[in-house]
Amino acid sequence: MTRVFSGVKPTGHLTLGNYLGAMRRWAAVDQHQADALFCIVDLHALTVDHDPARVRRLSRQAATLLLASGLDPEVCTVFVQSHVDEHARLSYVLECVATDGEMRRMIQYKEKAAREGARGGSVRLSLLTYPVLMAADILAYGTDEVPVGDDQAQHVELTRDVAVRFNQRYGHTFVVPRATHPKIAARVMNLQEPTAKMGKSDDVGPGIVYLLDEPDIVRKKVMRAVTDSGRDVAYDREGRPGVTNLLEILAACEGGNPEDLSGVYESYGALKKDTAEAVVEVLRPVQERHKELCADPAYVEGVLRSGAERAREMARPRVDAAYRAMGLLPPG
Ligand code: TYM
Repeated sequence: MTRVFSGVKPTGHLTLGNYLGAMRRWAAVDQHQADALFCIVDLHALTVDHDPARVRRLSRQAATLLLASGLDPEVCTVFVQSHVDEHARLSYVLECVATDGEMRRMIQYKEKAAREGARGGSVRLSLLTYPVLMAADILAYGTDEVPVGDDQAQHVELTRDVAVRFNQRYGHTFVVPRATHPKIAARVMNLQEPTAKMGKSDDVGPGIVYLLDEPDIVRKKVMRAVTDSGRDVAYDREGRPGVTNLLEILAACEGGNPEDLSGVYESYGALKKDTAEAVVEVLRPVQERHKELCADPAYVEGVLRSGAERAREMARPRVDAAYRAMGLLPPG
């Protein structure tokens, strides 16, 4: 039996990168593993400057989109991180195991701290400890596999280190998890800046395809994607990042291999046109289902309520065990 856990952070509208790199696989494959859990990690959204009303809105929207993308609450558990106290409870004691140096080495911390600094803001302490909360998310459930895009590999690696260290120091408590990544589209790039990841909280909006973009907006964004100075359609991440990104997106949407597809196209225009239509078709059923679910918010709320109950039951024994192992007195 494989336990699967993954999450999505409500800091922006979900993107094609989230979908191809993670969500689509969760629905198609991962949820069918025993006891898979998918979490809207709202506590993580508080690690950067945010508008509370927007976090609430985006959390509801992320939950609705996870269901719209095919997660079935009869098959897996979908819930909101802040509804299950065990995450914060475990995070604190894992902070007593992880080190300051480990946190400061995290690429995402360095990038985000620099961005916050450039905006004139201060860096919240929780941004530094972000990976520990993520480790708590994963370790609380005895997770074996964490299906994520490439950008989360370092965080999962840190989670492994923390689990191993805890087990060695305090006795076997945690399963040591491993990250799994899709073969294609593990890192979808920004269409306007194909050397940077397509991130939902980025500033380069025209280069980001959102899951809820209307078909004509999707077409416009893909047709305006930055391509490379050469003319032939070649698969080459370093030399031809723009074209390679389109080939990856097309292959991920249609099935197939991006390198093989590069032989099929003689012009960038034709590649863009087919990619745009492929993305529109992939998003269509998600958008349709999202519309239906928006008409029934009580259903989504019910899913989250029972999801949190189930998650709490799954997490509590292991978090309690971690507390006891570290020397904390049991209450009463
Ligand atoms: P987040 O919200 O940034 O992204 C959610 C998932 O989408 C993947 N992803 C991408 N994949 C390919 N190309 C892209 N451009 C792209 N952008 C995002 C991410 O890799 C991720 O799988 N720290 C996590 C949330 C988190 C989490 C966890 C994940 C918190 N606790 C525990 C797994 C397990 C994050 O910010 O994901």
